[in-house]
Amino acid sequence: MSKQKNYAAPDEVLYHVGICKNDLQGATIAILPGDPGRVEPMAKALGTDCTFVGAHREYTSWLTNINGVKVLVCSTGMGGPSVGIGVEELARMGVTHMIRFGTTGTIQEEINLGDCIINNAAVRLDGTSTHFAPLEFPAVASFEITSALVKAAQETKTDFHIGISVSSDTFWPGQERYDSFTGYVPRRFQGSLKEWQALGATNYEMETSTLYVIAQALGIHAGSVCGVIAKRTESESIAPKSAYDKAFADMIKIIQGAVVKLTKVGK
Ligand code: URA
Repeated sequence: MSKQKNYAAPDEVLYHVGICKNDLQGATIAILPGDPGRVEPMAKALGTDCTFVGAHREYTSWLTNINGVKVLVCSTGMGGPSVGIGVEELARMGVTHMIRFGTTGTIQEEINLGDCIINNAAVRLDGTSTHFAPLEFPAVASFEITSALVKAAQETKTDFHIGISVSSDTFWPGQERYDSFTGYVPRRFQGSLKEWQALGATNYEMETSTLYVIAQALGIHAGSVCGVIAKRTESESIAPKSAYDKAFADMIKIIQGAVVKLTKVGK
């Protein structure tokens, strides 16, 4: 069944992201970090001729040029609801490929701080995606984007893993963290880390399941790569910045390679 596609007019400024299709200069690929503060350094590390596009609420946007291809870097804020709003508005401006570039906590012993995880699917421990598809519906990455990310990671010889994310609406209880204000984790989540681990899931983060389900519902493509900044088999804490720095450098190479693959004529 083909769905109606309600594109925005080229000069229509979308209410939440605060930019319009004309601002994208033809970009149809968007890289999506959570943190607005990471957009500028990411755009500059990814490509050349970087320009600021706009900043409204949690959505900061820059354009970059990767090997002659205009790519948008736009923050989503943290968690499902703000991802949902951003994805919807970017799709209305003609963005067809969205790649989350985030951080994560691993739950598997063999995955180390500073490694990268490419998520081919996600556990829907979020609420936003249930507004787009029933919980029985899987949160699965685009095969095209995941293949491009994996090939790029292999070629650049980065420390990477492929696996299922547990995308939680909360940083503390949903990720079974006890170092919170009260230390209370509801029964529903007590022991859940071990369960996800036993099922072979690789990591916790807060956005991928929402992105994947909405992308599927809208008929666009989505993928995700995250840098490991917490190792939950050892600690609940976020690691020193060196872990992020290592993963950031590797994720930049992976995204650059993936963009080239996604845009190669004839692939
Ligand atoms: N982001 C998360 O959601 N969890 C972590 O442990 C690290 C980053």
